[in-house]
Amino acid sequence: MSLSLTKSLVKLSTSTNALSALSNNLNKFNFSTTTPNHFLFGKKSKNFEFKKVQIPNASWKKGIIQKIPTGKTNSYEPKEMNNMLRFALGTLPSSTNLISTVSADGVANTAPFAFCHCVCPNPPTICITVHKKPDGSLKDTQVNIEATKEFGVSVVSDWFFESAISTNANLPPEEDEFEKIGLTKMPSSVIKAPLVAQSAVSFECKVVDSKQFCDENGNETSIAYYGQVVKVHANEDIYDNKTGEINYEKFNLITRVDGHYSKVNNIIEVEMN
Ligand SMILES: Cc1cc2nc3c(=O)[nH]c(=O)nc-3n(C[C@H](O)[C@H](O)[C@H](O)COP(=O)(O)O)c2cc1C
Repeated sequence: MSLSLTKSLVKLSTSTNALSALSNNLNKFNFSTTTPNHFLFGKKSKNFEFKKVQIPNASWKKGIIQKIPTGKTNSYEPKEMNNMLRFALGTLPSSTNLISTVSADGVANTAPFAFCHCVCPNPPTICITVHKKPDGSLKDTQVNIEATKEFGVSVVSDWFFESAISTNANLPPEEDEFEKIGLTKMPSSVIKAPLVAQSAVSFECKVVDSKQFCDENGNETSIAYYGQVVKVHANEDIYDNKTGEINYEKFNLITRVDGHYSKVNNIIEVEMN
């Protein structure tokens, strides 16, 4: 396996001149104001070339358990966490996240969600949006949240990328997605749904509100669930609660770029003068 991504740490010193040059350059691009027709995981634009790298763990097969971080995972009340809000606000909108739920009968489920954002720092609240399946039926995630009013959020890193996105599979509700795909359950401390042990950072959320969306004909399309964060789990190799620092080079977050994935380890550090 060879990964051709170069790791670089770019330092930017932001003087007023540099910022105005950046703004001038950005203005040269003709950003479209129309709604993109590939809004939901569609095709890449013709003129944009991605730098392609190999899949991180190309030999992975369904059922193989992928790496669990070796460092200790610490659990925090949201208010005890030195820097939880900066992480949640800054990272969740771009990372790929696994949403875990449990059915009324106790069957665990997990699936990747891109519509997953921190929508309020106080009280810390994460919103996920579940769309109906193309045939109009409900996803297991929605059925389970309706039954339990809870969900877990586990952030995806490159060391378990393959198993994480394989949970996209449309399994029957009675099948445990963790067992079928090969993800390890980490018990939650407040909610019933397990979290993903492979993940470096997980949140336990209790649903406090929801909003149903309908199309122009009044048909329900999606539902947004607002979950208040009641517990956070963070691996000490990635997050230091004393300093509030997050080690993004080790984190190797997986993000979405149009219909593709990218690894977040090129950090641009901005020093404000
Ligand atoms: C990277 C990625 C992101 C996704 N994001 C969402 C999302 O935000 N909302 C959604 O409803 N489905 C999303 N999906 C599709 C669900 O993961 C998929 O429908 C899954 O089978 C649902 O599982 P469930 O029936 O167990 O809930 C995404 C899929 C992938 C691969």
